[in-house]
Amino acid sequence: MPTVLSQSNLPGLDLIHRGKVRDVYALSSTELLIVATDRLSAFDVVLPDPIPGKGEMLCQISNFWFGKTAHLVPNHLTGKDVASVLPAGTDLASYAKRSVITKRLKPVPVEAIARGYLIGSGWKDYQASGSLCGIALPPGLRQAERLPEPMFTPSTKAAVGDHDENVSFAQVVDLVGREMAERVRDATLAIYRWAADYAAERGIIIADTKFEFGTDADGRLYVMDEMLTPDSSRFWPADRYQVGISPPSYDKQFVRDYLETLDWNKTAPGPRVPADVIAGTAAKYAEALQRLAGITLD
Ligand SMILES: Nc1ncnc2c1ncn2[C@@H]1O[C@H](COP(=O)(O)OP(=O)(O)OP(=O)(O)O)[C@@H](O)[C@H]1O
Ligand SMILES: [Mg+2]
Repeated sequence: MPTVLSQSNLPGLDLIHRGKVRDVYALSSTELLIVATDRLSAFDVVLPDPIPGKGEMLCQISNFWFGKTAHLVPNHLTGKDVASVLPAGTDLASYAKRSVITKRLKPVPVEAIARGYLIGSGWKDYQASGSLCGIALPPGLRQAERLPEPMFTPSTKAAVGDHDENVSFAQVVDLVGREMAERVRDATLAIYRWAADYAAERGIIIADTKFEFGTDADGRLYVMDEMLTPDSSRFWPADRYQVGISPPSYDKQFVRDYLETLDWNKTAPGPRVPADVIAGTAAKYAEALQRLAGITLD
């Protein structure tokens, strides 16, 4: 059985951030303990019902990709054992599969998005402007069409409750400097290309994905947070892919579809979610973990 954890509780540790999904503790000036909870956010609102085991699945799928792509881009994992830092009396099983000890980095204030297909906000952007983050695209592309080349389509991190906003590469340069902007772009595309090939061999299309990067005291760049999870990516089963429609995906689409049937204005507080939608969402995450990483959590 997966463990269920909506909110971590680690008395004596220094909680510095509760995000939509992760609780972040400072272990020292150079290390963090990051706990992926079972909270589910949709339309940037955290819903009242957790998805049992979701945090474990997110943490395991991220760890899998961090390991697979470490030859391309260094990542924030330290490899240290979580059990050694949990307060005495903590139920280890509740935390073991959903927590990691990471380097404590200074976030680069850009959502580093790679897109291989035209969908979501990229599709909207293209329909409105014929371009994507300021880069002109050929006319006549259809929804979910494969892009001529994978693209770096950054956005800026919005304050809580706001939606992220697509920006041009030039705006990223203004924000973080040319050298850093190029490093982030190149790292984003390198990981995306590698992972997209890997997933394709397993019958899954990675339509797009978002990375976060951070730097250490020496200015070294690391990929941090989560990597290539159903929360940060659109995964499509290749055999269901069709240009012109929005293909089914392994992400939160399932719960989003349900929420669209409600009369809810997409601001907090979010609505309760019925048990079958919760179970269906958990099954999607489990299937993504199994098909991509070959991992089944018991
Ligand atoms: N190695 C790291 N060093 C510093 N910060 C990190 C590291 N890894 C992840 N983070 C930050 O920890 C937080 C993880 O929480 P979570 O993913 O739940 O946040 P979010 O709700 O997506 O975004 P936020 O809370 O920042 O609006 C994010 O703010 C992320 O940028
Ligand atoms: Mg996040």
